[in-house]
Amino acid sequence: MRFLGLLNKLNSLLIKTTARELPKRSMACSRYEYVKTYEQDDTILPNVWIVIRIDGKKFHKFSKTHNFEKPNDENALNVMNAAATAVMQEFRDVVLAYGQSDEYSFVFRKETAAFKRRSAKLLTYVTSLFSTSYVMQWSKWMSLPLAYAPCFDGRVVLYPSDENLRDYLSWRQADVHVNNLYNTAFWKLVLDSGLSNQTAEERLRGTFSADKNELLFQEFGINYNNLPAMYRKGTILLRKRVISDGDNDQNGRQAIVPLHEDLISSHFWKVHTEILGKYVPGTYTAPEIMPRLVDLQLNTKQEKGDYEKKQPENLAGIS
Ligand code: GTP
Ligand code: MG
Repeated sequence: MRFLGLLNKLNSLLIKTTARELPKRSMACSRYEYVKTYEQDDTILPNVWIVIRIDGKKFHKFSKTHNFEKPNDENALNVMNAAATAVMQEFRDVVLAYGQSDEYSFVFRKETAAFKRRSAKLLTYVTSLFSTSYVMQWSKWMSLPLAYAPCFDGRVVLYPSDENLRDYLSWRQADVHVNNLYNTAFWKLVLDSGLSNQTAEERLRGTFSADKNELLFQEFGINYNNLPAMYRKGTILLRKRVISDGDNDQNGRQAIVPLHEDLISSHFWKVHTEILGKYVPGTYTAPEIMPRLVDLQLNTKQEKGDYEKKQPENLAGIS
């Protein structure tokens, strides 16, 4: 009997110990663990340009709800630019970003090792950071409050050669030209001449660029080439050393600056050699009125502090 009692005690001690240890052991090596093998490796090939393009969901409706000016709302476009700037501040390997309408493309340098080049990580971080930054920036630029949360889709596209990358960006900039010329003519016909949407559409159907330029000039006295460059060319964001009057630092301070240049021309790539070549930012001579996007980075105490903390290590000492 005494022997049986001892055996029972031993048994219950064993059960208690096993129960205490069970959760730990089952997590480390459970029969469920095989499910991990279903996850796919999405590491991006080495030595390719990684482009992430985000695009606003149903911005046709979003722009209407928030009374965007037609066809271009300068402030709304700047919310996009400011959100893209936030992405570039966080992701130091983005060498260029290009935006127009409700889309933005982010170009990661070929050698980037960010998130071990894992496609899903890069895509989801960029897309979610862009979305949250868009919301954070909204009230700095817009007077109407946000009526609902905007959201953006995203895709990763890889380009093996510099030529492919340039062609990709040229494609996006050509898209701005085609759309903006059409939209400018369309909304002039509707808003100024009182045509219905349908009549304006019929009037423009089958016309070439030269016809729309002529229409704008003849009927509305508008020289299309004199419209703001941001509307005609989109926005290119680059890291530059900003040289401005009154700044004692001759080397300038680093910021992400907006340019509205023609990136289809080879001149652009000769001037901004840091994009395809060695990653050393060029200089940006500030215009008389500093773009607010840059001013916010250089002059706002809190943002300036945050910004400087985040400068790439290989550029230390420049700012
Ligand atoms: P999905 O992207 O397919 O969800 O549709 P979408 O409605 O966002 O259309 P898409 O991305 O093709 O085009 C963007 C739309 O955003 C334009 O057609 C415009 O309606 C609107 N939009 C973008 N920027 C501006 C702007 O500055 N002013 C105005 N009025 N509308 C703009
Ligand atoms: Mg869209």
